[in-house]
Amino acid sequence: MIAFKTNKQSLNTRDNHGKTKLTTLDQIIGVSESTVNLKRTARKVAKTDVTVLITGESGTGKEIYASGIHELSPFSSGAFVHVNCGAIPENLIESELFGYEEGAFTGAKKGGKQGKFELAQNGTLFLDEIGEMPLTMQTKLLRLLEDKEFERVGGTQKYKVNTRIIAVTNRNLWKMVEEGKFREDLFYRLNIVDIDIPPIRKRTPDIPSLISNVMETTCQKHQVSVKELTSEAMSAFIHYPWKGNVRELVNVIERLVVLVDSDTITLNHLPEYMRNLDNANNNFFKLYGLQ
Ligand SMILES: Nc1ncnc2c1ncn2[C@@H]1O[C@H](COP(=O)(O)OP(=O)(O)OP(=O)(O)O)[C@@H](O)[C@H]1O
Ligand SMILES: [Mg+2]
Repeated sequence: MIAFKTNKQSLNTRDNHGKTKLTTLDQIIGVSESTVNLKRTARKVAKTDVTVLITGESGTGKEIYASGIHELSPFSSGAFVHVNCGAIPENLIESELFGYEEGAFTGAKKGGKQGKFELAQNGTLFLDEIGEMPLTMQTKLLRLLEDKEFERVGGTQKYKVNTRIIAVTNRNLWKMVEEGKFREDLFYRLNIVDIDIPPIRKRTPDIPSLISNVMETTCQKHQVSVKELTSEAMSAFIHYPWKGNVRELVNVIERLVVLVDSDTITLNHLPEYMRNLDNANNNFFKLYGLQ
């Protein structure tokens, strides 16, 4: 039986004014060498204004590293502005990022509109899914990063940029550069410091600490006493390939907390695909062409 020592950490909590507090680097859980090193790099880089590229599979924690860097940085008094480059239609992305002046195009708002760069002035602009940014926009972004100024769409006034850029992707940007889908010069400009977060199957020492923390916060949320895992169940957690990474682990624990009545979680309580690890691993490796 494995009992957990926990240090209380809840992610994305709210302060007294109801404003969402951003996750700090202290709330990133993990004891593996790679996590310790990445947190150290993130702390160092946070104090500067350099552009950071965060890469990693889905659910590895790219967003919490980004908000953690913002919170520790000289830009923390400004806003942390999130832009999902994959969710904005190609014809709107320029006006979303740079804003527009009144009359810039049919349907433009009276008085114009601030873009994300203006909103992130003295703060951090978090460019999520940068790999989805259309090539024409990549050119404009590069020019802005080099000139440190921009104009709203339809305008001539120059706006100075004092913003830390954090770009994030779960795609292999270098491969996209080789395929001509991502500008090489922009890649180097963004990749001044690279935080490449490994999937949790490659940093298994993080798994027990993640489980204990997530277990505690989830049990608190559902107002049940904290559950323990048998060593067989723990072993299944450690060997499961977690292609959804921490997000998947959080969801599995929440399901167990809600469905299991007893205070001990055994192998039998786990979903079948986790118990049948040979199959899970085989399917996973086949799916990703790794065998
Ligand atoms: N090391 C960690 N410690 C604690 N919580 C973590 C850790 N890594 C990830 N999480 C949690 O896992 C979830 C997914 O993390 P996050 O949203 O940062 O992933 P992501 O890499 O941005 O994923 P996606 O590519 O799908 O956008 C969040 O609830 C986050 O708080
Ligand atoms: Mg994300």
